[in-house]
Amino acid sequence: MKGTFPIDKFSELRTPFYYYDTEVLRQTIATVRQEAARLGNVAVHYAVKANANAGVLSIIREHGLGADCVSGGEIRAALKAGFPASKIVFAGVGKADWEIELGLDADIFCFNVESVPELEVINELAARKGKMANVAFRINPDVGAHTHANITTGLAENKFGISMNDMDDVIDQALQMPHVRFVGLHFHIGSQIVDMGDFVALCNRINELQDRIEARHIRIEHINVGGGLGIDYDHPNRQPVPDFKSYFATYAKNLRLRPHQTLHFEPGRAIVGQCGSLISRVLYVKQGTNKKFAILDAGFTDLIRPALYQAYHKIENLSSDGAMETYDVVGPICESSDVFGKAIDLNSVRRGHFVALRSAGAYGEIMASSYNCRELPKGYLSDEMR
Ligand code: LLP
Repeated sequence: MKGTFPIDKFSELRTPFYYYDTEVLRQTIATVRQEAARLGNVAVHYAVKANANAGVLSIIREHGLGADCVSGGEIRAALKAGFPASKIVFAGVGKADWEIELGLDADIFCFNVESVPELEVINELAARKGKMANVAFRINPDVGAHTHANITTGLAENKFGISMNDMDDVIDQALQMPHVRFVGLHFHIGSQIVDMGDFVALCNRINELQDRIEARHIRIEHINVGGGLGIDYDHPNRQPVPDFKSYFATYAKNLRLRPHQTLHFEPGRAIVGQCGSLISRVLYVKQGTNKKFAILDAGFTDLIRPALYQAYHKIENLSSDGAMETYDVVGPICESSDVFGKAIDLNSVRRGHFVALRSAGAYGEIMASSYNCRELPKGYLSDEMR
């Protein structure tokens, strides 16, 4: 089964471009809100790093979600899209002074702090401005996630967060600093996680840490469990809305939250992944020695995930229902890694056909580059094509 696309409208547009199905996006956010609401005191911050297209951001903001940002640029994009500063969290191992100042000036909700040197700088910059900065500590829970090595983040060997052993000491230091207010703990174990057992492991670890902190009579208002829920790249049409029901239920069942606490989530991929496709035209069909190549006008500059993580994106020929044939689907960039898929079965491909690379709404457009002096791909919402 293929997705549905307004390809008559596509013929007026320069390819490649990203196409966002706003109906899928809206359904996804509605499901997030409905399932998260069952947990009670919950705040969902969309991870802007997954996709900062202005149209996509404004739909997410309209539905009342907050924003999880990892740079000054993302904070600006979130503010511009109308996210209230009171719903913005700011994470990242290397926050520059100007980025911290931007967050302080905007009065964002919270800085997710990853080291003592960073905490000291936030305290100092806040003092200069006569402000108090809310801080949560990102704790490295040493929980592995069953996903690609480049996108696990919660292991002791990763650069992220503060180790559990140092946690008590770091909290003590924060309590001594006059311009930071310690408000919570933050975790994130990785991305594209489909095994709920990984989230159970995180909950168990948080339960232990909470008991330890409580024994010291320190109050924690906010627990932030990050993002990470995966999507079905193999079957984007079968499961356009990820399984948020199981995801939130896993936390409801396994995390021992205290009655005064708010639980925060930072999903990125699961919100925007399935609504987006990279649309490309076939430039040439080339017969190689043993195989046929479908050469697209999109390359890894437009969608880098296959080249960078060996990620699979389902490929569909939108222009033909002809007999299936097997192709290596490649881009025009002068590097052998510019391959979207090998031995892919597609309805017989001709020059000029439209091809969709599915499930590309997350970490697609936002990771595009201009290598080879290529133009960055544009993004269009389905709303604009009616
Ligand atoms: N919170 C924190 C602290 C994060 O580091 C991330 C993602 C998220 C939330 C959102 O995670 P998500 O719900 O999207 O899994 N470029 C890679 C993914 C990198 C994820 C980085 N951190 C890819 O294309 O697969």
